[in-house]
Amino acid sequence: MQQIQEHQIEHILEQLFNDAKNDYLKMANGFAKGIFRPIKPNDFKNVYLSISKKQGKALKKLIIDHNLKNIVEFGTSFGISTLYLAQGVLKTGGAIVTTELIESKAKKAQENFKNAGVQDLIDIRIGDAIETLKGYDKNIDLLFLDGWKDLYLPLFQMLAPNFNNNTIIYVDNADMSESKSFLKTIAKTNKYHFESNFDDKVVLITLKK
Ligand SMILES: C[S@@+](CC[C@H](N)C(=O)[O-])C[C@H]1O[C@@H](n2cnc3c(N)ncnc32)[C@H](O)[C@@H]1O
Repeated sequence: MQQIQEHQIEHILEQLFNDAKNDYLKMANGFAKGIFRPIKPNDFKNVYLSISKKQGKALKKLIIDHNLKNIVEFGTSFGISTLYLAQGVLKTGGAIVTTELIESKAKKAQENFKNAGVQDLIDIRIGDAIETLKGYDKNIDLLFLDGWKDLYLPLFQMLAPNFNNNTIIYVDNADMSESKSFLKTIAKTNKYHFESNFDDKVVLITLKK
């Protein structure tokens, strides 16, 4: 059964990566809208902005190697990263809560999860992560941060009470300026250990032991 699901996920991922090939054109279109006014999330409603296949495979391995079960994702988009998270939790017996601001993207992601046969593993919350995750009271083994970077700090602070001694916080696009200032702020607490991967695109945060 698990093997069939793995196969289904791979198949859907292939389709999604194929569709994401036009991301560059769609992104240019999104940025063009920002010439005359500030850029809005909706300007990227058709763009995947996903992690790479290499990153996805490493993410799956991270989950399995550390036996991570309770996963929270900020920034679902069309669900590419969530499907890699699902591959991981299929092995560890875990589950995922993921959240996406743009309804049309979330609906498409939901369809992708259904087609991949993993919808039962994924609770997708539509809306602003600060609202959809407010009052979240479950333990978090992996927090995957991949939404707009100005929310990394408030979300981290809001969810920190749910971390345990072995929680991993995966920071994507860690090399962007807003992510850097988030990392700088939490480094000041002297409570965390930081490990860079993928040429500094990714930083893994863990609690100092
Ligand atoms: C970089 S993309 C996520 C890519 C996805 N993790 C993947 O690898 O397939 C960022 C997503 O975060 C969403 N987002 C931005 N601000 C958000 C917010 N406040 N709450 C929830 N989602 C948000 C955007 O709409 C966008 O789809």
